[in-house]
Amino acid sequence: MSATIQSTVKFPKLVTELPGPKAKEIVEKDHKFVSPSYTRAYPLVMKRGYGAMIEDVDGNVFLDFNAGVAVLATGHAHPEIVKAISDQAAEFVHIAGADYYYPQLAELAEKLQEETPGDFPKRVHFGNSGAEAVECALKVAMYATRRQKFIAFFQSFHGRTMGALSLTSSRAAQRLGFGRAALDVTHIPYANCLRCAYGKTPDSCNVECVKVIEERLFKTTCPKEEVAGIVVEAVQGEGGYVVPPAKFHKELRRVCDENGIVLIVDEVQSGIGRTGKMFAIEHFDVIPDVICSAKGIASGIPLSATVAKADLMNWHVGAHASTFGGNPVGIAASLKTLELLHNGYLKNSEEMGERMRAGLRKLQEKYPEVIADVRGLGLMIGVEFVTDRASMTPNPELRNRIEHECFLRGLILLGAGESTIRFSPPLMIDGDQVDCAVKIFDEAIAAAMNAQ
Ligand SMILES: Cc1ncc(COP(=O)(O)O)c(C=O)c1O
Repeated sequence: MSATIQSTVKFPKLVTELPGPKAKEIVEKDHKFVSPSYTRAYPLVMKRGYGAMIEDVDGNVFLDFNAGVAVLATGHAHPEIVKAISDQAAEFVHIAGADYYYPQLAELAEKLQEETPGDFPKRVHFGNSGAEAVECALKVAMYATRRQKFIAFFQSFHGRTMGALSLTSSRAAQRLGFGRAALDVTHIPYANCLRCAYGKTPDSCNVECVKVIEERLFKTTCPKEEVAGIVVEAVQGEGGYVVPPAKFHKELRRVCDENGIVLIVDEVQSGIGRTGKMFAIEHFDVIPDVICSAKGIASGIPLSATVAKADLMNWHVGAHASTFGGNPVGIAASLKTLELLHNGYLKNSEEMGERMRAGLRKLQEKYPEVIADVRGLGLMIGVEFVTDRASMTPNPELRNRIEHECFLRGLILLGAGESTIRFSPPLMIDGDQVDCAVKIFDEAIAAAMNAQ
């Protein structure tokens, strides 16, 4: 893509077989030298991107509906983000925010105070990744309560560092080989109403998925006096883009309030406009004690923020810090990202999300046996595949084939959960691109089903 055609290219265009010759070479080299733990689903080898488009090393152009795993809120190479990054880089790239002052650090912290729900004083700790944001939240809760236990949810993903990994439970592969968990965490089922762990329907639901905390955990393995925090994703991400009912979050808030427990809401994937609101928890009208944010916060520059009630993040000098946390280039990208979201992308996320779900629901009517669910908020959308609607057995083989067929047609998507495809495009996509993605998805489902 030359500079002039970049902004006009809106749809995929494939010029070689996939992977192309250059991509093949790079994949081979990568497999030789890079950690084999990386979870690549297909051989996309990126050269450059613009907006929602990616050009690979062989000149193939893809439509990106994954956005680097829900990171590129403003799309690839947004000119205003690029300018903010380069202007800041020309001033200074690093000084270490934990040891020195610079205006941008306080500016973004002040902004996040306004952007996050809760009209009370807050403090912000900056890190570099989602896992770091979660580690910080865990330490805040332990320090503030002087308690050590946590409650988290099955199928959750909070990162792979040792503290966050104690919470993470979306796949056995994440734990296999690493022995016992570093922290004392009890897992319970998330509020997945399509597959209610308590056999309830929305009509008969009494929020058993939260009641279990009081009725079972507090009376057995987790004395309430020892629980520091409940850690929950506002919308479950890696676990399959599962949207819980509002009463789930409201009940968690109540349990935390009644028992002096810190409510930590992980918005690493669902935050920064992904669901059409700045933070997904706003859809549920619940105010967390601590919010973890990363991924989209700086449009692709590594940055995370843990935003806590000021009286919780009230610890001694040296209790927690990171050399790179709050990097000025990341902060410049973040301030510009927030501005762009307010100037249109938040609204676009909501509107394009509705259009996308409407298109996908038509596909559900077309393939009623295998599409069990189309769900989501804003541009955080999941489509769940099953072997058949009667048994509702998850169908990861079909899901994986569809993911691959999309790639072969120039549409970049990733799976989530056992048998769901997630749609997490940049928040700047337009209606034509949504329609194009739905059309390719349709063709990919047909091709994958034929291959069954
Ligand atoms: C909800 C959630 N929390 C935490 C993380 C960890 O983020 P990172 O990979 O940046 O450490 C992720 C990553 O996917 C996530 O989805």
